[in-house]
Amino acid sequence: MNTAIAHPNIALVKYWGKRDAALNLPAVPSLSLTLSGWHTRTQVQWGAERDELILDDEPRTDPKVFRVLDLLAQHAAIPRPPCRVVSHNDFPTGAGLASSASGFAALVVAGAGAAGLELSRGELSMLARRGSGSACRSLYGGFVQWHLGTAPDGTDSVAEPVAPPEHWDVRMVVAVVSEGPKSTGSTEGMERSRKSSPLWSTWLELGPPLVEQARQAVMARDLEALGTVMERSTYSMYSTMFTATPPLLYWQPATVALLHEVAALRARGVGAWATMDAGPQVKVLCLPGDVQTIQSALAPHALRTLAHGPGPGAYLEP
Ligand code: PMV
Repeated sequence: MNTAIAHPNIALVKYWGKRDAALNLPAVPSLSLTLSGWHTRTQVQWGAERDELILDDEPRTDPKVFRVLDLLAQHAAIPRPPCRVVSHNDFPTGAGLASSASGFAALVVAGAGAAGLELSRGELSMLARRGSGSACRSLYGGFVQWHLGTAPDGTDSVAEPVAPPEHWDVRMVVAVVSEGPKSTGSTEGMERSRKSSPLWSTWLELGPPLVEQARQAVMARDLEALGTVMERSTYSMYSTMFTATPPLLYWQPATVALLHEVAALRARGVGAWATMDAGPQVKVLCLPGDVQTIQSALAPHALRTLAHGPGPGAYLEP
């Protein structure tokens, strides 16, 4: 029991900014959808010659991976031996497609399994958060809220399921614009926005009501309400990026072309709402019946388009 599968999640209301960088505590609450389709598969060997990471068939150095395994061992009050971690993503890594979310979720589940530990979802989610904030949401399937919390040690800043995958069969159409690594990592980008954007305090005020509106829209299965809140959160996040010094420009020309296509689709009565993360890819929230129309409209501007529905939380491979 040392191999885990986790799926990326896409924020419908965004996490952008840390109130504690060491503990990865968020400055705003967020709400996400865990996607089916794409996977991270990670195997942890608990007891190896030395710490070693193989990611997508290449040896890599990423101290955060072993730091999270240290935290796992500390949490369970056991010593940590050197570990060998072999991880594979069946989608582009580090390109704004949430590979760090599925990556750290799979790592903690595989690590706990390999060490023979029985940890709760909440404990695993808290440990995954230390690798990458958004990873705490990939422990759960479907619609997931990450609470802001107020405790300085982060014990109340936890992810919690809002509704399981089968609650609502929505789709996220992903238009991949670039498969290369993002220009600025999310931690650096968040810090730049926090320190230099004049809009930062407004962004902090917007978070809690946007999450509440999104939660209500999910419960009511109201796509127009959810799509509207998602776009508001996305463009508000980008406003803090554009007004940072120097500005964070994650978009490519194709990103803007895709955003115009989404607006044109909506003007034609198609239920399609766009979101982007720290990268140029455009993700479009819709219902299954509109996927084909949306993919055809987006295809001329994208390297490829895919559609994913709600997926499960991270799990150990039997
Ligand atoms: O968890 P991180 O450090 O990869 O940051 C994720 C930031 C966004 O993708 C832009 C938003 C989010 O909530 O996932």
